[in-house]
Amino acid sequence: MCGIIGYVGGRPCREILLRGLERLEYRGYDSAGISTLDPDGTIHAVRAVGNIAALRAAIASRVPVGAAGLDDEDHAGGDGLLGIGHTRWATHGRVSQANAHPHSDTTDRVHIVLNGIVENHLELRAQLTAEGADFTSETDAEVVAHLIAHHYEGDLVAAARHAYDQLEGHYAFAVMAADQPEQLVAMRKECPLIVGLADHGSFVASSVSAFLEHTDRVLEVQDGETAVLTRSGARLLAAGSGRPVIRRTTTLDWDLEAAEKGGYDTFLAKEIDEQADAVAQTLAGRLDADVALFDGLTLEHEHLQVLQRVRIVACGTSYHSGLVGRHLIESWARVPVEVEIASEYRYREPVIEHDELVLGITQSGETADTLGAMRLAAGRGATVLAITNVMGSQATREADGVLFTRAGIEISVAATKTFTSQVAALAAFALALGRARGTLDPERAGALAAQLQHLPQLLAQTVAATDAPVRELARALSDEPLFVFLGRHAGNPVAMEGALKLKEITYRPAEAFAAGELKHGPIALIAPGTPVLCVATSSPVRGKLLTNMAEVQARGARVIAITDEAGDPALGDAEVVAIPRTDDPLLQSLLAVVPLQLLAHHMASQLGLNVDQPRNLAKTVTVE
Ligand code: F6R
Repeated sequence: MCGIIGYVGGRPCREILLRGLERLEYRGYDSAGISTLDPDGTIHAVRAVGNIAALRAAIASRVPVGAAGLDDEDHAGGDGLLGIGHTRWATHGRVSQANAHPHSDTTDRVHIVLNGIVENHLELRAQLTAEGADFTSETDAEVVAHLIAHHYEGDLVAAARHAYDQLEGHYAFAVMAADQPEQLVAMRKECPLIVGLADHGSFVASSVSAFLEHTDRVLEVQDGETAVLTRSGARLLAAGSGRPVIRRTTTLDWDLEAAEKGGYDTFLAKEIDEQADAVAQTLAGRLDADVALFDGLTLEHEHLQVLQRVRIVACGTSYHSGLVGRHLIESWARVPVEVEIASEYRYREPVIEHDELVLGITQSGETADTLGAMRLAAGRGATVLAITNVMGSQATREADGVLFTRAGIEISVAATKTFTSQVAALAAFALALGRARGTLDPERAGALAAQLQHLPQLLAQTVAATDAPVRELARALSDEPLFVFLGRHAGNPVAMEGALKLKEITYRPAEAFAAGELKHGPIALIAPGTPVLCVATSSPVRGKLLTNMAEVQARGARVIAITDEAGDPALGDAEVVAIPRTDDPLLQSLLAVVPLQLLAHHMASQLGLNVDQPRNLAKTVTVE
């Protein structure tokens, strides 16, 4: 779960690599490094513990101001026309300079950056050590550098392919050699890797955001293929045969501005605000009867009519969107839905029916556990669909059909706009399913479609209405040691999502409970002044939730109600965060997530924490 970039072209590459790495920081940021090749065949490597700013500082401290040349003695880092870079989220080996990438072989001829995990690295390390390799780090990546060097006899492509055949695990790497000033080689196995083709050179990276400012023209790389990059372009060689692969380039519709903060203090603030647009994009053209929702697969009406079960597999925030989706699908389409934490599901020998529809929800499309759960279901004959935000991600390659959320790049580690977009995608799916199965008559389906159309506007109003009051609330609550979130019905997963957001970016203990469970234990947590945030939106069980609120209030809790019925006297002494009203209770609960996202954002900002890069977390979790 790291970010890699490689460039070969007509421009000095150091700044190109550094800027690319800054755009990949969301993938991990505990250490970083670059290796660049000078025309005379000298490779310069600079590595630093910390994020890209730390790497920049390390480079600045080694490059004499105004100096054209560089100090080879201390590996200062050159500015040649070819280089590779890496930003790390540690999996093997501590966070240290020695473990930071790039890694090289004993003779310093071959440098490599790697994302992912090489499972047989210990065995390979032992073999290579026996043959004289001198290891300087604890990483699996260094093994790959030595292995490629071991096979290298002037043909970098052949050496990389040879090494690839010996590696087990899932990974992507880019490799350069001191005597190959015109060529970079990259390969992948179940980890993201994409080639970008610019006028001035070629890129390879874990994500398009790394090179989007240079080009929107990309070439997908499949597992086992070899990407050979030169200044004038890139070619792909097939897995196994090594024959040239003819593949058309794709032009992306993501612009660079979308990947930058655009005037906001944090990506998170920007992304919370972007939810209206994101949801509008998700729903665009998908609310009419008879639209094909999933790319790659047409769900036949006959199939949908007899559908026995939908099983959702996901992790974290995507799991929470799945829980909201269960309400939508069961209520509108009357199909039983199971929602599974992917990491649990995949290892518990689940019973998988042939006729069930398995829906993997994953923003990144790269989450190892979600992919594992999808593979398990596919292997047992289920139809597997994916809801994802990332084109070309692994989930899109493995699923029978894909529903893209089209929310745009989400940079901040905490998911916000992808959560609401996932719920919107699930609502479009539930609507289509309800129509196909006849559980929604045309009138009701039309009314729900109209409410969904209105959802983006309501999301925008919710951000506008709640931002300032929630900022004040965050200030008032920022010293609290424990936060409790309560919800019922579709408000329960929203409460869970609110607690997750608060935990991950403020590091404050926050627990969410189905309010009906309070009396079965959690109410013991409530002490005088404990903040209790309640999703008290209109729903069939709102009255019951108000009773639960009264119970914690009676025990001295400080109750904050997120509600569309601010004037309701039944709210008692609760502090109220008012949100706009929509008719459907399921969609109503979704609006309540916005002030909860804002609460986490404002509190983390006020506490001076790194909102977009919370400690210990990475945006894309490609390891179990
Ligand atoms: C929380 C968050 C994570 C992800 C989880 C799954 O804000 O971002 O909990 O939701 O790691 O990621 P995806 O959706 O990419 O599979």
